[in-house]
Amino acid sequence: MNSFNVHTKILMGGGLETLAPKLKRAFIVTDSFMASSGKVGYVTAKLEAAGVEYRIFDQVRADPDVGTVSRGVEVIGDFKPDAVIAFGGGSPIDAAKAIVFFAGKTCDMRGCQFIAIPTTSGTGSEVTSFAVITDPEKEVKYPLVEESLLPDLAILDAELTVSVPPSVTADTGIDVFTHAVEALVSTEASDFSDAAAEKAIKLVRRHLLAAYRRPEDMEARQGMHNASCLAGMAFSNSGLGLNHGMAHALGARFHIPHGRANGILLPYVMSFNAGCHESLTPVAKRYAKIARLLGLESSSVRQSALNLIRTARRYVEQLSIPSTIQKAGVSKEEFEAELEGMAEAALADRCTAANPRPCTKEEILQVFQKAYTGKIP
Ligand SMILES: NC(=O)c1ccc[n+]([C@@H]2O[C@H](COP(=O)([O-])OP(=O)(O)OC[C@H]3O[C@@H](n4cnc5c(N)ncnc54)[C@H](O)[C@@H]3O)[C@@H](O)[C@H]2O)c1
Ligand SMILES: [Zn+2]
Repeated sequence: MNSFNVHTKILMGGGLETLAPKLKRAFIVTDSFMASSGKVGYVTAKLEAAGVEYRIFDQVRADPDVGTVSRGVEVIGDFKPDAVIAFGGGSPIDAAKAIVFFAGKTCDMRGCQFIAIPTTSGTGSEVTSFAVITDPEKEVKYPLVEESLLPDLAILDAELTVSVPPSVTADTGIDVFTHAVEALVSTEASDFSDAAAEKAIKLVRRHLLAAYRRPEDMEARQGMHNASCLAGMAFSNSGLGLNHGMAHALGARFHIPHGRANGILLPYVMSFNAGCHESLTPVAKRYAKIARLLGLESSSVRQSALNLIRTARRYVEQLSIPSTIQKAGVSKEEFEAELEGMAEAALADRCTAANPRPCTKEEILQVFQKAYTGKIP
């Protein structure tokens, strides 16, 4: 059975000031940069104006780990909030989701509102039932997937993203593109997830490069913020695919930011899915359909699919994302030592299950090898 769940109410352009008077105790989850740079003032000023008591938990680091989540569970248990406000990129939002989820196992979190305020345009975590938590000892990223993780409210204020530096705009932007592509060809895709993903990918095509080149272009920032949320809505329902499975394995071992890991792998995974180097698979036809949507179609399915893959490659180049794992600074020795483990982790990753082309560990190894040098062995 397929379903489409959009639990989260989306407020566009702001709205915390009208919510705040209804709150008593708010637990803010963010990262140290958002706290120390004063950006969290976006939240605290509105809470203070409404007389809301709050506590800031700012210990989240990129790719939140199990230790941070357990510390958060302890603090939230003492504070007993009636609202959790996740403020930041995907890392603080995911950490907040996991904190609320695990806190709910030991204390009563019923009635506690979950509000997500994204400050990057990338993960769409504000509307997804996913939270990705890293186990640093095992060097594994675990996607926790539960409908109860869906935030109650998401506040989309694109003004917050103006300060995002170009390298983060690039990484998070290619993440949005990957979410939309994977959602559109996933085995669990439906007309409903397609609708959200199609709009997202069109917005990416129109606004990604502008947001990267002109950080203060509000139209572009707004377009990417909406694209990120729409792509999140799509993949939260359709699932993702091999690209995310491999990116989790690669990112967990070599500390490559999530979006960048996706961008590096994307052209290689798409080529595998479409069967570009052997005979075309049915996925090529679906890529051709996406190409048509973006005005990239050609007379043949093969050429249209290749045009889409070439567009992914061109984004990587134009956004100054490394085009291979080697160029991301991973030595041959390190790569070879981790290759087996990465292929196994990617195969076991929950995201891989929705990939439109079934794959074996051997095939994943080959895609990793191609993505290492960019050459076809
Ligand atoms: N839950 C989901 O559905 C989902 C989907 C994809 C990825 N993820 C996870 O999300 C995480 C990545 O999230 P991300 O890409 O948003 O990065 P992030 O949250 O790690 O943030 C990246 C950097 O940008 C900074 N930053 C954030 N907002 C800023 C702003 N407005 N101005 C200046 N700097 C700002 C942060 O301080 C940080 O240094 C990974 O752990 C990934 O696995 C989750
Ligand atoms: Zn992603």
